[in-house]
Amino acid sequence: MNVCLIGSGGREHAIALAISNSKLLDKLFIIPGNPGTKSFGLNVSIDITDVDYLIEFCNENNVELVIVGPEKPLIEGIADQLLENNIKVFGPSKNAARIEGEKSFAKELMKEYNIPTASYKLFNKSEYEKVITYLNTVNYPTVIKADGIAAGKGVVIAPDFDSAKKAVNDCFIGNVFNEAGDKIVIEEFLIGQEASLFAISDGSEFVLLPAAQDYKRIYDGDKGKNTGGMGAYAPTPFVNDELIKLISNVIINPTIQALKEKNCAYIGCLYCGLILTTEGPKVIEFNCRFGDPETQVVLPLLNGDILELFYTAACGKINSNAVKYNGGSSVCVVAASTGYPDEYEKGKEIFGLNNVNRDDVIIYHAGTREKKGKIYTNGGRVLGITSVINNNDLIDAKKIAYETLDNIYFDGIYFRKDISDKALLALNK
Ligand code: AMP
Ligand code: GLY
Repeated sequence: MNVCLIGSGGREHAIALAISNSKLLDKLFIIPGNPGTKSFGLNVSIDITDVDYLIEFCNENNVELVIVGPEKPLIEGIADQLLENNIKVFGPSKNAARIEGEKSFAKELMKEYNIPTASYKLFNKSEYEKVITYLNTVNYPTVIKADGIAAGKGVVIAPDFDSAKKAVNDCFIGNVFNEAGDKIVIEEFLIGQEASLFAISDGSEFVLLPAAQDYKRIYDGDKGKNTGGMGAYAPTPFVNDELIKLISNVIINPTIQALKEKNCAYIGCLYCGLILTTEGPKVIEFNCRFGDPETQVVLPLLNGDILELFYTAACGKINSNAVKYNGGSSVCVVAASTGYPDEYEKGKEIFGLNNVNRDDVIIYHAGTREKKGKIYTNGGRVLGITSVINNNDLIDAKKIAYETLDNIYFDGIYFRKDISDKALLALNK
């Protein structure tokens, strides 16, 4: 079959690579793709907000399945429009994507169905006085979240009343997130290890992939600002088989069934962000798509046919045996441009990419651009240097990823040095 993959990040490079060996795949179009995805298909520059044009493209090229990488088009309803035109989609409908697009929707769903999550209160813009009064009663730190998507900047961990008030003012008075900040969730601050778990769902059944741990902060030791993710590893030892079963029973299954009951059956990858508290796992966020960089470490750990998994999910009858965890481990270190997640420079030539010829390393492209055969930086997160080994040995996987990074250079390269260390510490290694 012919497939369109939408997106241009490291996540999409990982998806393109993972499905490239599928026996089901004829042609792959990546819209718009990046210099990394072009080894697996044709990068096509289409403005994905022009869904009518995308539909025309799919029809002309006999595209049977569209896999949507990023959340924005899903939240805006791309899946609905494609489905109306008889094109199958791996990715949820607009209604189901509210699980990421409206935090209030996710929180209320979890409350209604007793799905463990941080306790919270929801406020509208008209309730300014009420929210400030409430902030006098909460324990600190507390967590303030803009309701809508805010380019990864909508969550503030406020250490005290003054910073909490500032976060509320930014949303309700400064309108820094526009309509995304018209409602806010004020949430209990949870303590524990974080984990990211992907459930591939056909609307009622699902397959869980190995759990990963993302490193969201910019600096080592989880210091500094939140980013899209500075690295990840999988599988994380913090989520053992027993815990996976528990999460499946008390979080994932009830969520998938709840969405089905509400007539917004969830088809696609449901990303569940968890904090493993002493009271058990609790949800801190759902995303309506694969995580980035978690996808870069999770997908290479699967044996089988990943496209078959996506396609059967999109058809509403998932083949639960399409893939299996292969027993390996993987560490991805993001090479970023200095300044990220704030301002940074672009257009720096990247050196050393061709010197890396190891079977146990994948260099994912994210913010890169090709010009006359040379590769240049073109974004905040530039590359994902990723080791993939056959055994579950994170020490080795970490060593390989960092050894590889020694060979890669661009002006202003920055990366964290401690990706996977939380696991190594817990495993006493
Ligand atoms: P998000 O933008 O939703 O990915 O959240 C960013 C980060 O904020 C998460 O990765 C967590 O580290 C942190 N966070 C979000 N909610 C909570 C919470 N209720 N308690 C503690 N940390 C949280
Ligand atoms: N790495 C976090 C995310 O994809 O949302």
